[in-house]
Amino acid sequence: MTTSVESYVRTPVVETLKKENIGKTVRLCGWVRTRRDSKGGFSFIEVNDGSTFKSVQVLAENKLSNYDSEILKLGIGSSVEVIGTIVESPGKEQTTEIKAESLKVFGYADPATYPLQKKGTSMEFLRTIAHLRPRTNTFGAVARVRNEICRSIHDFFQSRGFVYVHTPIITGSDCEGAGQMFKVTTLDFDKLPRKEDGSVNFEEDFFGKATNLTVSGQLQGEMYATALTNVYTFGPTFRAENSNTSRHLSEFWMIEPEMSFCDLEGNMQCAEDFLKTIFNNVLTNCSVDMQFFNERIDKTAIETLKHICDSAFVRVSYTEAVDILLKCGEKFEFPVSWGIDLQSEHERYLTEKKFKKPVIVYDYPKDIKAFYMRLNDDGKTVRAMDVLVPKVGEIIGGSQREERLDVLEERMKACHLSPEEYWWYLDLRRYGTVPHAGFGLGLERTVQFVTGMGNIRDVIPFPRAPKTADF
Ligand code: 4AD
Ligand code: MG
Repeated sequence: MTTSVESYVRTPVVETLKKENIGKTVRLCGWVRTRRDSKGGFSFIEVNDGSTFKSVQVLAENKLSNYDSEILKLGIGSSVEVIGTIVESPGKEQTTEIKAESLKVFGYADPATYPLQKKGTSMEFLRTIAHLRPRTNTFGAVARVRNEICRSIHDFFQSRGFVYVHTPIITGSDCEGAGQMFKVTTLDFDKLPRKEDGSVNFEEDFFGKATNLTVSGQLQGEMYATALTNVYTFGPTFRAENSNTSRHLSEFWMIEPEMSFCDLEGNMQCAEDFLKTIFNNVLTNCSVDMQFFNERIDKTAIETLKHICDSAFVRVSYTEAVDILLKCGEKFEFPVSWGIDLQSEHERYLTEKKFKKPVIVYDYPKDIKAFYMRLNDDGKTVRAMDVLVPKVGEIIGGSQREERLDVLEERMKACHLSPEEYWWYLDLRRYGTVPHAGFGLGLERTVQFVTGMGNIRDVIPFPRAPKTADF
């Protein structure tokens, strides 16, 4: 049989499902989801290639030369190439199907051992086969939604003239000052070089100093913002906090815009516009995947996103938030008082019960926030803001930065950080300092929120968490 299709041309499944493509000859490649044989001497084979949630139905007749020898052996997971024509489907379930002119098998998947045979396998089990879980409906949908969120993030900033800056992954500084860092070293642990006082001599280490994986690109982002005005970073960040929760990862992706000549109000507005744009784009561009999440994972997923896009976020100061929590009559496991760091149960009360929408809490006590946040005139609070959303809690953390050299130096000393070590950060205040602000959005918490997936380990392809670094 001759065909006009060149061997390198492939038509993704998503295209074969479109009515306007009926009549076209295609070369389709993918993995079999199901095979049904009919007594009439033909088989229906569902093929999926991840280009969309749905699979396309392929009609293979017994006149194909390898029908008995190969096609009848196809099972879930086998990989195939189909050359055929898109035709209108007589079935109710689908508009189009492919009438195969030839079907080639690349590789079979033995049904006796292929781990994805059964439907309804648990998320926990799927984590143990992270190399195969992208072939499931859920993980295919998560991957496409995550991709759309990333596309949308770049689009939001690029269309507003922000410059994408790459900040280092290996660094000598601790942005959040929390000391939750993974060390980067080539020292031999069995023969550590020591100084006279017995401490490890990092001068002999690879970089000639102690280094770690970054917890945030913010400080370097600030360097570029104080030259290019509006910048953003988008990269992996690492935290060695021993938090075994459904919202924490040891390796996660963070998006950090940094804006010169911007204050906390501008920062909050940017964060709100940003999240709404992402949510809108997902609703528009991933409607089929979102339909799935809405049916199978979280019955309120679509409604929640639509509601958020249509209404303003609530803004309350930390002091007001504490007041609300103290007066609400709710019993919290962790008691509330002015000065505490809000716990997940408090955040959830505010977003899920009190306001039923995203809440931006601002002006936190300085003692629970990082050294770089701008001190308010009350001397007790800083220009910090956290965006909290239902179910996930904190999705964004940000602040207006301290641009006054003397105040910043005082804060650093109070936080036991050495101004000498951060001389470059202080130089930004010494030479042409400007008011500026920025925030960090956790990518995985965003994917989690949008999809309604219960555990953060299921929205990143290969999760890293305490005692977990497989694949
Ligand atoms: O609030 P964080 O620690 O803020 C910063 O790192 C600032 N330097 C950001 C900035 O102002 N440029 O982290 C920001 C966000 C959190 O709101 C959360 O969404 C996410 O990063 N995040 C985590 N996500 C997954 N696992 C973890 N362990 C996370 N820690 C923070
Ligand atoms: Mg935070």
